[in-house]
Amino acid sequence: MKQHIFFTGFMASGKSRTGRALAERLNWPFVDTDSLIVEKAGKTISEIFEQEGEAAFRAKEKEVITEICNNETPHVVSLGGGALTQAENIQAIRKSGTLIRLWAKPEILSERIGRKNTRPLLANLTDEERLAKIKAMLKDRESNYALADFSVESTNDYTEKHVIEKILHMRNFWSHHALDVCPSSGGRYPIFIGRNIIPDAASLLEGLRLAPSNDFLVCTDTTIAKVQSEMLAQLRGQAGRCPVFKFQAGERNKTLHNLNQLFSFLLHRNYTRKSCLLQFSGGVVGDMAGFGAATYQRGISFIQFPTTLLSMVDSSVGGKVAVNHPEGKNMIGAFYQPKAVVCDLAVLATLPENEYLAGLAEIVKYGVIYDEQFFTYMENNIDAIKKHDDQVLKHLIFRSCEIKAEVVGIDEKESGLRAILNYGHTFGHAIEKLTGYNMFSHGIAVSLGMRVAARTAVLLGILPAEAESRQNALLNALGFPKHYNVDTEKAWDAMGVDKKAEKGTRVYILLTEIGKVKKVCNVDKNIIQQAWDAIRAMEN
Ligand SMILES: NC(=O)c1ccc[n+]([C@@H]2O[C@H](COP(=O)([O-])OP(=O)(O)OC[C@H]3O[C@@H](n4cnc5c(N)ncnc54)[C@H](O)[C@@H]3O)[C@@H](O)[C@H]2O)c1
Repeated sequence: MKQHIFFTGFMASGKSRTGRALAERLNWPFVDTDSLIVEKAGKTISEIFEQEGEAAFRAKEKEVITEICNNETPHVVSLGGGALTQAENIQAIRKSGTLIRLWAKPEILSERIGRKNTRPLLANLTDEERLAKIKAMLKDRESNYALADFSVESTNDYTEKHVIEKILHMRNFWSHHALDVCPSSGGRYPIFIGRNIIPDAASLLEGLRLAPSNDFLVCTDTTIAKVQSEMLAQLRGQAGRCPVFKFQAGERNKTLHNLNQLFSFLLHRNYTRKSCLLQFSGGVVGDMAGFGAATYQRGISFIQFPTTLLSMVDSSVGGKVAVNHPEGKNMIGAFYQPKAVVCDLAVLATLPENEYLAGLAEIVKYGVIYDEQFFTYMENNIDAIKKHDDQVLKHLIFRSCEIKAEVVGIDEKESGLRAILNYGHTFGHAIEKLTGYNMFSHGIAVSLGMRVAARTAVLLGILPAEAESRQNALLNALGFPKHYNVDTEKAWDAMGVDKKAEKGTRVYILLTEIGKVKKVCNVDKNIIQQAWDAIRAMEN
């Protein structure tokens, strides 16, 4: 359970002063790790370094941090400068508390440090030398500070009370922090899951140091702008009444042409590289505007505020952004990660039932391909899932994001494991293509694709028929359609241009048991055509 509050930050950023005042306000004990090490060792830090070396100091520091992290009484903790250079400390701190970075502009830090002139590393320097050294040290340590959950500015203009109120407010938002995505290429971004959290999003923007200095724009679609007008206004207000750009709703509008209109909008209003897009949308605009964020002036920040269940559990997580091309879906795109993902359950209230079902298809997929226990959880909670029960929904979103984060953490760019997420998609995309992207939503097409994929595996003898029945029984109980009168010849051709197909090879992700899949190449055309009967011969 996350309970402690840890402070990190440069010297003179106010860690001890703010930490003490916060501890007093919360009536919690305050600890400064350096002071505790000195107290325990009966020596100053310089003496420990001189007599025992840095390794001995780091061992003592680790001992102190472990002790605090294991303490059941919540503490406010000011961390020493090197505490976050040790992987074990980082792990223990992140597991047991919220890590806050206190920051101030280098000029302010320099002025504070110069006033006292007691910091050995920065003593006896001219003002210019001190400022230059601080800037260099901050750059050096940035990767450590970036580990913080959120940042709070400590300027000379704010009273201590003001800073503390801000911290408590931000911490409130962070109580909805569910997990982090750590893509294999590096970096990390948080996912928040909760109800009615968008009206507090200013805490997020400031905590990520995007506000107040960045220009914001909200991207949405014409339908969401109407049905979620109040939440949209709340979000705009949180970003300082920023403009809204509306795309026409619908998959067929996910085009480079429409994205170009966003670029013109941004250019005409002088949005710079420091701008930030807030995507209040489902997967279509999320993918399209995400690609816009990846490419506008070679990349600007963006935050996903998904409004469909599908975008909460799938498209907002993992960093794939794209537009469609007449030759195929999502053909023009990039891998580009958001700064955060905020899943506010309140926005799902207006989501049409078939769109809810589309999201459930991806959720079922996660259980089928990766986690038999999660699959069983769904089998045991059918009614609650259908009634959109808050607690069950939260768990479904959490576990789905966790599975996707785990996969993306191993293979962000789909050179291996990530391909398993395409289960049902090769067939699903063919259905979407054959039906002009407007008969079934993406999720429903995937659910039909999962049925065809399971049948393919049974026909190949790699999946017991009972497992196919179990998958289909869950889909049936949740209310998914069973039938599409597919033209198998056309479907075969449509599957050929799936971008997931490796050159000259047709690749299928097939089930071997509930919770496990494998990649199979070049399945005989006859088998695939027979497998399509899994939906062609069914009745809804
Ligand atoms: N990037 C990825 O990794 C990834 C993964 C899966 C899917 N996708 C993409 O996601 C897209 C599908 O996303 P989607 O299913 O969210 O579709 P969508 O964005 O088109 O939303 C579905 C419909 O619901 C409406 N809507 C959205 N939120 C609403 C709300 N809260 N209340 C009422 N109506 C609302 C939209 O206007 C739209 O008409 C596809 O383009 C697919 O390619 C991407």
